[in-house]
Amino acid sequence: MTENRISYAKSDHLILVGFMGAGKTTVGRVLAALTGREFVDLDHWIEERAKTSIKNIFAVKGEEYFRTLESEALEAMTQRTHCVVATGGGIVGRARNWDVMRRLGTVVYLENDWETIVSRIGDCPDRPLVTGKDLENVRALFAQRQPLYEQADLRVAVKNQEPSEVALTIVEMLSGETHRA
Ligand code: S3P
Repeated sequence: MTENRISYAKSDHLILVGFMGAGKTTVGRVLAALTGREFVDLDHWIEERAKTSIKNIFAVKGEEYFRTLESEALEAMTQRTHCVVATGGGIVGRARNWDVMRRLGTVVYLENDWETIVSRIGDCPDRPLVTGKDLENVRALFAQRQPLYEQADLRVAVKNQEPSEVALTIVEMLSGETHRA
């Protein structure tokens, strides 16, 4: 019984989800500093463990293999507590990842509009789902994922906001949640 309770206890993480270019890493760093938490970027964690880039993992082993590494990385966060975790934009695609995220803590959706997203993702050549792809396909993915992101506990609009403003908004929302609880 006790074991069960421990394994299902929330790790009190703040988990940031959102499409590529929403600013999860930048906001995550600021939010971690602001709340005295450790910052973990799951893509970075995967790259360190695999000793290669996400781009290379996609190219050599394919997307499904990457998704498995991504789920494992998320699962590994159950061993830690009190972090801000920036996820990759596609983590919301596997239902099982939602079970894990809900166990890990509070899921926060950084919501941005397509125009802003597209102006940001063009700058980075390392996104395998964008580089060399037809923009219409990326837009379809963006639309397809909206309802998935919307399953998050909190939703924060990031358009025209500085990362520090977004981080502060999240802190305020969380304190509102605590007061309500
Ligand atoms: C992906 C987003 C990327 C990275 C991988 C796949 C996606 O992370 O995980 O390229 O499916 O949206 P960012 O959202 O940090 O760019």
